[in-house]
Amino acid sequence: MNDIFLKACRGERVPHTPVWIMRQAGRYLKQYQQVRKTVDFLTLCKTPELAAKVTIQPIDALGVDAAILFSDILIPVEAMGLGLKFSEKIGPQFSNPVRDSAGLKKLRIPDPENDLGFVMETIRILRRELAGRVPLIGFAGAPFTTSTYMIEGGTSKNFLNTKRMMFQNPKLYAAIMDKITQALTEYLKGQIAAGAQALQLFDSWGGALSPADFKIYALPYVKEIIKNLRKWQIQEKKQPVPIIYFVGECAGVLEDIKDSGADVAGIDWRISIDAAIKRLGSKISVQGNLDPCALFLPKEKIQERVKDVLTKAKGARGHIFNLGHGILPETPVESAVAVVEAVHKYSGGK
Ligand code: CP3
Repeated sequence: MNDIFLKACRGERVPHTPVWIMRQAGRYLKQYQQVRKTVDFLTLCKTPELAAKVTIQPIDALGVDAAILFSDILIPVEAMGLGLKFSEKIGPQFSNPVRDSAGLKKLRIPDPENDLGFVMETIRILRRELAGRVPLIGFAGAPFTTSTYMIEGGTSKNFLNTKRMMFQNPKLYAAIMDKITQALTEYLKGQIAAGAQALQLFDSWGGALSPADFKIYALPYVKEIIKNLRKWQIQEKKQPVPIIYFVGECAGVLEDIKDSGADVAGIDWRISIDAAIKRLGSKISVQGNLDPCALFLPKEKIQERVKDVLTKAKGARGHIFNLGHGILPETPVESAVAVVEAVHKYSGGK
């Protein structure tokens, strides 16, 4: 069993730095494109055998130390009652965004097994098929990032509708966030029960908030999820699963990430990892943080950048190597392989 990733999350000693890549199952892989030729993205997410198959593709192709469930942060949102569509050009779109109390009233708290059983089944298949080869990470969007999709109705540049609601109708925003928090807590409990061995909360757009607003509108809900998951795991006498909290453009809020209760802080590339570690302290591991565009450098330069991150992360309680955000669809697969090989080689491993 390769449990190096789980050990690094907990800050235990490891023979080499573990590595995985955000969005490691995706369009930069020919094998993924082959599968996508036959089904659309949502069908892929909802067909457990296929979702499991594409989850394993990067384990075979890259040799990463963890698998991440193939799904999307918008899948539980669809189950809350928002009609979801994905189009090649525009990206995700919800037909009925939540903008008022009538929208709030219609939101459902999905039951993981009844409403999102395909995700739970994918996890069960994966645990069987991975058979201890690498641990399986489950995930959800963090409440703030999830709320932006629900309120904007899709991807956004400045999150005007979301922030306008926060500032003009804070009670409505808080009530929506409470619903999201409840729904995501149940969803993540379901993932743990099905076999997820670690969880990542994606707050990809967290850096769009001022640090003061992050404390009010993002952090408390993340804390609530983590606290409730821990309480439930103790009640159920389950081994605690490590929780990674990733925030895009995190530099303004590192102290809050440290206080979130997460085991690992996932950081983007806009801050040097040694500077981040100083502010995060010794009670939390760190994950990151190579610029995804560094994978467009020649191989030797990629290796240098990997070494640089590894050297700067030496003071961390634990380090999981990753990119600072998702791998881009245009990335040459050889570059992703070069990153994984360099991490293993230069961190003292095989
Ligand atoms: O990391 C993995 O390999 C697991 C799968 C995964 C996907 N999305 C698959 C996906 C994960 C963890 C996500 C998370 C996700 N989804 C986030 C947070 C991480 C981040 O990148 O910030 C966000 C914001 C989304 C929402 C989302 N999904 C958008 C905006 C888009 C369209 C843009 C795009 O990249 O195409 C998606 C689609 C999506 N999710 C694809 C994949 C592989 C591409 C779909 C396709 O095959 O056409």
